[in-house]
Amino acid sequence: GPPLYLDCDTGVDDALALAQLVGVGADLVGVGSVSGNLAAAGGARNTLDLLAMLGRPDVPVAVGAHDPIGGTFDGGAAFVHGENGIGGVVLPRAGEPVDGSAAELLVRLAHEHAGELRVLAVGPLTNLALALELEPALPRLVRDVVLMGGAALAPGNISAVAEANIGNDPLAAHAVFAADWPVTMVGLDVTMHARFEESHRRALAEAPGAVPRALAAMLDVYFGYYTPILGRPSSALHDPLAAAIATGQVEPTLAPVVPVEVDATDGPGRGQTLVDLRSRFVGYPPLPGTRHRVVLGIPDGFGDLLLETLLPLP
Ligand code: BDR
Ligand code: CA
Repeated sequence: GPPLYLDCDTGVDDALALAQLVGVGADLVGVGSVSGNLAAAGGARNTLDLLAMLGRPDVPVAVGAHDPIGGTFDGGAAFVHGENGIGGVVLPRAGEPVDGSAAELLVRLAHEHAGELRVLAVGPLTNLALALELEPALPRLVRDVVLMGGAALAPGNISAVAEANIGNDPLAAHAVFAADWPVTMVGLDVTMHARFEESHRRALAEAPGAVPRALAAMLDVYFGYYTPILGRPSSALHDPLAAAIATGQVEPTLAPVVPVEVDATDGPGRGQTLVDLRSRFVGYPPLPGTRHRVVLGIPDGFGDLLLETLLPLP
């Protein structure tokens, strides 16, 4: 697969995504953190610690933006991911972030892997927007962007229409969708249907490796949030699904779409992704200006597939 830069707000499902990437042997060349589920510095800490457990302490990790573009970090989502972002699980502390910002790391990697680098973004898009400002040629240097965010077909999760990664920095999301690079959007309407059940969580808890057992412990808190929402002990698998699509492990149904609009106003539509899916009714003829793709569906059984990937981890 292509060299991959991961941008994340680690986060229980971000941790699962990171483990998925290592589990499928992705060519992970760098990771940047961003505030979202927790502050960017804490997200980098979780990422470094988990990468060491996964046997990949060599992957450079940069601390990214603390605040969204033109705004202030809202404090995160401890009620979903726990105070430390990973369900209160304490991992052995390992490694230090590299010097420089996540945006700088992304720009450097885009030059080093010109035309090849795939960007996988599973947090707010602040670092990507900052990187576009730092290096206006970035869209030419990057192969494509795969992102978990938005909702092609409402509802959202932080408001009636806004998904968290978009709603936490709508201006950054606007810049990322407007830039001249191909974006594959893996939205909430699809990721909510990718699930871990209690049987998956238990299998991880009983695995020999320290990583699967730590992930199972993180899922305790995450299940606590999702169980009343989903009506049974289970959780959605947002970021690992985006990772599985970015690594080709999952082949989704895709709709080609013209650039997605993001509502960055202060009204009730703030953070909504406006996806023009009218072409669905006429068999997806390419619309003028089409460069993005929106995931509409995935094969059944993603939870089983993810479990298979995670169980053998160290
Ligand atoms: C997204 O927001 C974060 O809380 C999750 O990690 C995921 O990336 C879901 O809306
Ligand atoms: Ca995330």
